[in-house]
Amino acid sequence: MRPSKNHKNYGKLKNGSKDLLTVKWENNQVIMIDQTKLPGKLVYVRYKKYEDVARAIERLIVRGAPAIGVAAAFGMSLAAISSKAKTPESLLKDLKVAYDRLRSTRPTAVNLVWALDQIMKQAASKNDIQDIKNSIILSSLNMATDDITTNKKLGKNGAEMISNDEVILTHCNAGSLATVTYGTALGVLRAANDMGKKISVIATETRPVMQGSRLTAFELDYYGIDFSLIPDTAVGHLMSKGTINRVIVGADRILKTGHVYNKIGTYQVAALAKRHDIPFYVAAPISTFDLTSNVNEVVIEERNKNELMRMGNKLLAPKGIKIFNPAFDVTPPELITGIITEKGILKPPYEESIAKNI
Ligand code: MRU
Repeated sequence: MRPSKNHKNYGKLKNGSKDLLTVKWENNQVIMIDQTKLPGKLVYVRYKKYEDVARAIERLIVRGAPAIGVAAAFGMSLAAISSKAKTPESLLKDLKVAYDRLRSTRPTAVNLVWALDQIMKQAASKNDIQDIKNSIILSSLNMATDDITTNKKLGKNGAEMISNDEVILTHCNAGSLATVTYGTALGVLRAANDMGKKISVIATETRPVMQGSRLTAFELDYYGIDFSLIPDTAVGHLMSKGTINRVIVGADRILKTGHVYNKIGTYQVAALAKRHDIPFYVAAPISTFDLTSNVNEVVIEERNKNELMRMGNKLLAPKGIKIFNPAFDVTPPELITGIITEKGILKPPYEESIAKNI
């Protein structure tokens, strides 16, 4: 399995960096990669209104837990700039409307609420209109910068445990495209690659929205990391053949008990990894931990039935049938070997290691 050179076709970003910058703030606008156009086209969209950012999150133009958190924070900056409020109180009211709209976009990834709460806390700590607006913009910019530093630390922590010649399976997309840049699970793989370790990645296609084949395959190709794409249904087969040495996935929410919410199919991968004695790791920043909810309280997003019913214009199932399309599942702590964070790798029992470190 040799790296393909196709990534060269996509060229470098305008700022000369080779990193895919998923979401950024420029001239009082939010700019993001339109992920619905990948892998065919690497195009950017610009938004001046928070309502458009909310729609972009719902339509998966931007997706991935940390990326939607930062996008929502930038959405709050847009709301602050466009508010015509004449008093701090009425500005806070306008911000609350934006907060509620952005918060309603996707229910499972906790980074969204985490980011929005941070912004509202900043806003509430000031009592001058201009101070409120400036502090929101500054906080959202800091959040974007911190995301990159965090991913690089987390990546290094995870990469240290990887040996030469490992074949590592990942599910969904937890890469640059799911964060501001660099990624969580893919950040670990990138860091290992940057350390000169020879690794091979197995990426699942991740039906039904294909974040694996459209996004992870695009990224690994772009960054020149050796990989193969497989159908979701091939995971057990490859594990039983002894092809896979380790699994690393991202997370949308991690509870104090160590239960991990991630893209639908993650639980199946974890259960199969346990069956075949393959270490199963989760990579996530501290902003992905939810220390207050219980496992039965978290809402698992159900998405539109058309995601299963159609591929473009082609009908994939008979019209009118019942469809259930959950976007996430829960992996219980007993299936997880370790949780890689910017503070180090947490080990079981998670109730203890999470309480002590997070
Ligand atoms: O529906 P998505 O594409 O937003 O789901 C994303 C995932 O499940 C990722 O694996 C998760 O957010 C981790 S991202 C660093």
